[in-house]
Amino acid sequence: MTTMKAISQHTYGGTEVLQEIEIDRPSPGPSEVLVRVRAAGMNPTDWKHKRAGGLVGKLPLVLGWDVSGVVEAVGLGVTIHRVGDEVFGMLPYPHGVGAFAEYVVAPARALARKPAGIDHVQAGALPLAALTAWQALVDAADIQPGQRVLIHAAAGGVGHLAVQIAKERGAYVIGTASAPKHALLRELGADELIDYRTEDFTAIDPVDLVLDTVGGDTAMRSLETLKPGGQLITIAVMATPEALAEQAAARGVRAYQLLVEADQAGMRAIADLVTAGRLRAVVEAVFPLAEFAKGHDLGDTGRVTGKVVLTVP
Ligand SMILES: NC(=O)c1ccc[n+]([C@@H]2O[C@H](COP(=O)([O-])OP(=O)(O)OC[C@H]3O[C@@H](n4cnc5c(N)ncnc54)[C@H](OP(=O)(O)O)[C@@H]3O)[C@@H](O)[C@H]2O)c1
Repeated sequence: MTTMKAISQHTYGGTEVLQEIEIDRPSPGPSEVLVRVRAAGMNPTDWKHKRAGGLVGKLPLVLGWDVSGVVEAVGLGVTIHRVGDEVFGMLPYPHGVGAFAEYVVAPARALARKPAGIDHVQAGALPLAALTAWQALVDAADIQPGQRVLIHAAAGGVGHLAVQIAKERGAYVIGTASAPKHALLRELGADELIDYRTEDFTAIDPVDLVLDTVGGDTAMRSLETLKPGGQLITIAVMATPEALAEQAAARGVRAYQLLVEADQAGMRAIADLVTAGRLRAVVEAVFPLAEFAKGHDLGDTGRVTGKVVLTVP
């Protein structure tokens, strides 16, 4: 059996529990492809699962849901990708994890063709965060031109892509971010910015939609910003989601949680926006796979602007 390098953990904890090891290279089953990983975006779910199994709940664990790479082999019945194709996508969340490795197996239909105009770092940065933004704003909220949307943590992985997708859909975008990040967000299209550290975001004129990426008190207080009939979608883990939904109902608005799903149609829509020059990932840092610890430590700060990406030479 051929082996490969992977970043694995046998216990939960800080970055010190992660180590580069040699494991068997996987083989694609029916409807699956084996991808030679060229770049893998990092997400907060990676830092969280490092500490506690979370939704995956199994050890040993190789983290990493985002992948951009080259199809190395195809399983029985795969028609949409061929060996040598450049592809990108999100492995099925939560159990498809494993992209922080030289190779990973993915369902063929979790992946789309990588836009030719971007490199693997850009492509690897996009899937999970862009799919989350797309599924929230377009699939769930069906955001319309002229609607007002409040996006929390607008400079984060999900937020900075959500700003661009909402603008592309013709919305008026208000973002929360610390002041040093406002210039970048204006460049990405945000219409109005609030420094959540010094300003009260509930003072904005009412909005049709809130995309909450922070949770807790931020989610609860965001209900105050909604117009009657408005909606709040949270992607944060809420300790009391029922309380949020109840308070929303009492105010005549709707609040609900979203969990991102692997989605080839969404990946194709994202690829089309990228190709049209309407969507790009801001990448704060790129590290080779062997320097995974730097990526994790940066992510653990909770202050990343855009994305952090690991590359596999
Ligand atoms: N449910 C799902 O399917 C799903 C999918 C994707 C992500 N998520 C979750 O959503 C959250 C956001 O993900 P992400 O990838 O965007 O995270 P991220 O990239 O780590 O977000 C970092 C950004 O958050 C900003 N920030 C931190 N606290 C803030 C606050 N109170 N108000 C406004 N901005 C704040 C920071 O900006 P400053 O430096 O200005 O503070 C930083 O730029 C995470 O908890 C993640 O696990 C869930």
